[in-house]
Amino acid sequence: MTRVFSGIQPTGDLHLGNYLGALVNWVAMQDDRDCTYCIVDLHAVTVEYDPTALRQRTIEMATNLLAVGVDPQRATLFVQSHLGDVHGEATWLLNCVTGFGELRKQPQFKEKADRIEAGDLEGQVSVGLFDYPVLQTADIILYHAEEVPVGEDQRHHVELARNIAQRFNHRFCPEDAPLFTLPQAIHPAAAARVMDLQEPTNRMSKSASSPKGVVGLLDEPARLAKKIRSAVTDSGTDVRYDRQEKAGISNLLEVLSAATGREIADLEREYGDRGYGVFKSAVAEAVVELLRPVQERHAELAGDPGEVERILADGAARAREVSSVTLAEAKDAMGFWAG
Ligand code: TYM
Repeated sequence: MTRVFSGIQPTGDLHLGNYLGALVNWVAMQDDRDCTYCIVDLHAVTVEYDPTALRQRTIEMATNLLAVGVDPQRATLFVQSHLGDVHGEATWLLNCVTGFGELRKQPQFKEKADRIEAGDLEGQVSVGLFDYPVLQTADIILYHAEEVPVGEDQRHHVELARNIAQRFNHRFCPEDAPLFTLPQAIHPAAAARVMDLQEPTNRMSKSASSPKGVVGLLDEPARLAKKIRSAVTDSGTDVRYDRQEKAGISNLLEVLSAATGREIADLEREYGDRGYGVFKSAVAEAVVELLRPVQERHAELAGDPGEVERILADGAARAREVSSVTLAEAKDAMGFWAG
């Protein structure tokens, strides 16, 4: 069975970008693949954060993921810091086969560091922020993942993981017995990069300046529909896909395509000249329907936090069985004396 790994930070509520860009694939892949999913709390402390909120958000994220459809019977779900010894040690080993220059040019690092330096994000540019992609590499390759379902913004991180894995294999393993599998990013056909509804040239993100541009998975249907109907578009009237000239409309076309499974060309034919109002209402309705079952399941699960905790403890034990073996093999390959 194809092995899959992915992760998500426990920072705030899930939004439509997380859902369409990554989580829809997380859920679909459980049907025929060996999936491991992780709430990456060690990644969440690389920028300024609130320690009290972190604990709460971790359990909330687990509840949200289960509501979305992550199924503990078919996939392993765990919290990264529960295996901090394994992931942390693996990160150190991988640090030593990673180039400083390679990390310095990572687009996400550059973007966050620039925002911190400009005073737009709080805190300092930490060594943890710099090293973030190596921890992510450890996450992925400890589980020998072949496929990594993520949004477009994570493409460079997965490419880096592939390069580091390849370098490790080349340096420390016989040619016919590489230790690490080379991972590949898997993006959805549409909505791999969902944009902010108010600023459609920026990616929808938890740290957006206004909540109006971000569709929360648990937003009440009326609120959610209103956000979509108030999405910023252009001054034209035709519903046509053009990321340069019509960023807002193109974003909504991608969302509608992902929500309904219909081709963008087909949607352009249907809504092309019916005006933005009709089109936006159709998008709003499709998203409300898409999220309805998620919201219903969330309401059921939120009443039983003990069950969520049990699922995470079981997930951590299962994840440890795999990753601790890989770590021991990596140490052996690197020549550490086991004593
Ligand atoms: P994170 O927590 O920022 O986001 C979780 C997932 O949601 C996707 N995503 C989007 N997709 C489309 N449009 C958007 N606007 C949008 N916003 C977020 C992200 O691409 C991601 O798939 N570094 C990762 C977490 C991570 C990880 C890993 C992922 C840690 N270790 C190992 C894969 C494998 C992150 O911060 O994702």
